Amino acid sequence: MGRLKELRKYVDGELNKMEDEDERNSAIVHLYGVSLAATMIAKKRGLDPEIASMAAMLHDFHAYKTGSYDDHAHKGADLAREILGKLKLTDDVETELICSAIYHHSDKLVTDDPMDEVLKDADVILHCMNDLSKAIKEEEQARFENLCAEFGI
Ligand SMILES: [Fe+2]
Ligand SMILES: [Fe+2]
Repeated sequence: MGRLKELRKYVDGELNKMEDEDERNSAIVHLYGVSLAATMIAKKRGLDPEIASMAAMLHDFHAYKTGSYDDHAHKGADLAREILGKLKLTDDVETELICSAIYHHSDKLVTDDPMDEVLKDADVILHCMNDLSKAIKEEEQARFENLCAEFGI
């Protein structure tokens, strides 16, 4: 089994413990959606799509696990480090890339390292395109416009 599949199997198992069906479904849709968007963006920018996808699968995991978005990016980075250490799917450099992307993913108004930016942009794609009838958040507007320009959409 590939390591992305292995990580997804772990994430699926944890999400399946969520009792509220609607919350569980939206967690699955969001993590898999961001994962696909991250793959596309990373590939376009010449970065490792597998690492981007793995970061996406874990990026909001802390929020879903605890039911709170309070500081979930920073706490989520610690949780991701713990999970990756346990699953032994990544080397130290890859673990750092993933945890850094998760740590910074709520900072949508600043620019961080390339892999951090892939995750932020993938998150914004889901927020803005999962339901086109929804208004775009002010803090995501510029990032979304840049993405549309980059992808010619
Ligand atoms: Fe988040
Ligand atoms: Fe997210």
